[in-house]
Amino acid sequence: MNVVVVGSGIAGLTAALHAREAGHSVTVVTKAALGDGCTGYAQGGVAGVYGAGDSAARHASDTLIAGAGLSNAAAVDVLVADGATRIAELISRGVGFDRSADGELLLGREAAHSHARIVHAGGDATGAAISRALVAAVRRTAIEVVENAFLVDLIVCDAAVRGIRLLTDGVSDDLEFDAVILATGGAGHLYAHTTNPAGTTGDGIAAALRAGVEVADLEFVQFHPTILAAGPAFLVSEAVRGEGATLIDDEGRRFTFDAHPDGELAPRDVVSRAIARQAAAQGSPVRMDATMLGASALAQRFPTIDRVTRERGFDWSREPIPVTPAAHYLMGGVVTDLDGRTSLPGLFAVGEVARTGVHGANRLASNSLLEGAVFGARAAAALDSSAGSAPPFRSQKSPLNLADSVTFRDENARRPFSRAALQQLMWDHVGLLRTDGGLADALGTISGWRAPTPRSVTEHEDANLLLLAEATASAALARAESVGAHYRTPDRVEALQLETV
Ligand code: SIN
Repeated sequence: MNVVVVGSGIAGLTAALHAREAGHSVTVVTKAALGDGCTGYAQGGVAGVYGAGDSAARHASDTLIAGAGLSNAAAVDVLVADGATRIAELISRGVGFDRSADGELLLGREAAHSHARIVHAGGDATGAAISRALVAAVRRTAIEVVENAFLVDLIVCDAAVRGIRLLTDGVSDDLEFDAVILATGGAGHLYAHTTNPAGTTGDGIAAALRAGVEVADLEFVQFHPTILAAGPAFLVSEAVRGEGATLIDDEGRRFTFDAHPDGELAPRDVVSRAIARQAAAQGSPVRMDATMLGASALAQRFPTIDRVTRERGFDWSREPIPVTPAAHYLMGGVVTDLDGRTSLPGLFAVGEVARTGVHGANRLASNSLLEGAVFGARAAAALDSSAGSAPPFRSQKSPLNLADSVTFRDENARRPFSRAALQQLMWDHVGLLRTDGGLADALGTISGWRAPTPRSVTEHEDANLLLLAEATASAALARAESVGAHYRTPDRVEALQLETV
């Protein structure tokens, strides 16, 4: 088959390598350089190696509890069953996970895990190590790589995907493929504050929405609790708390135990809300105290965080550092079965763009790299089963009219649309804490906004963000109950808003 993978994080590159190894002709299309994207930023690691006393069943149970009852148990079983094989594969492709002096994999601990089971590389540079190894592996194959190419849309004919429309150097091109694997990541840039790198604008989900592909659970947006509250968003890994760091208020008290018996290692949504509330109450960011770990241990186990905090003027071995939540991960996305198939024949989705059902309402830490590897491989293995299901490709022209594909309903919107205004609105009203009124107002504003007919990459991204914002706010308004990362409150949300300082 002639297969295109759109995106080059762990999920996309795993899918591409497996598809190629199965004999398919594979093209990887990526928005920037090969390997750019969220994977390279991942600090914590990959969950799923079982030390003494741990088991797949315990990992599954922790995943289901974090998912707040909305995970698909079958998808979770697949994740934990395939996890060890995929980690072994990463090692065989050259990822040097950290090991003890006697050669055993070192296992870290993160929130809501009942056991230390996170493998990591370069201390806190796991994603970079994985990305380097997979990019090198792809470069060693006959996989064709197309960089700096933007996915404009899916081409759909006779109810099957038949290719993709790309924008490269300002030129639009329609390319025919037998199967399309979306691996375009999430949509962190829906929000004013995010851990995600630039370019995480939900392009794959937006393209799927325009093509009428089933998308679900967009209301479940995970906010990571501990971003350094000084300068551009920089994540301070949950693994630091896993090693014993605490969260303290302005009087030095460990306030997270007020919210959950597991304190700093409670599920992320709980810790994030506790931090937001405490910061609002004291009028300044809360602090993470890692001083008890000592300067040499911090530098050795967390070299990236150690460097960046020092660059920003903190010696975290001597003083607690200010931290605040930011948008981190989208649990929802393009609905798939256990092999990455979507509701559109020939279209697969893997990684953060997909909603496999693994994460439910809240993702367990370090399950995302694992999910990308597991379901990337499974989608590649399922490609053959989609062969011949689609009717012949008829046209090089997309049936979609992009000017019509973004909903701009109200010509009299109160404020003009800009990406920054959208991100602030989403942060204020469709973020960590959500009220009926805030969600309804946000949806009204978003629905009324206009954006220019997209021509440049930035304009396409803006249109995608606007489309996704409307879908996210609608989903959040429709889900009346609080569950996992989706938290409805009758309180005035204004009192709890955060500013990154
Ligand atoms: C972290 O290192 O805290 C992030 C890991 C993750 O998002 O799973």
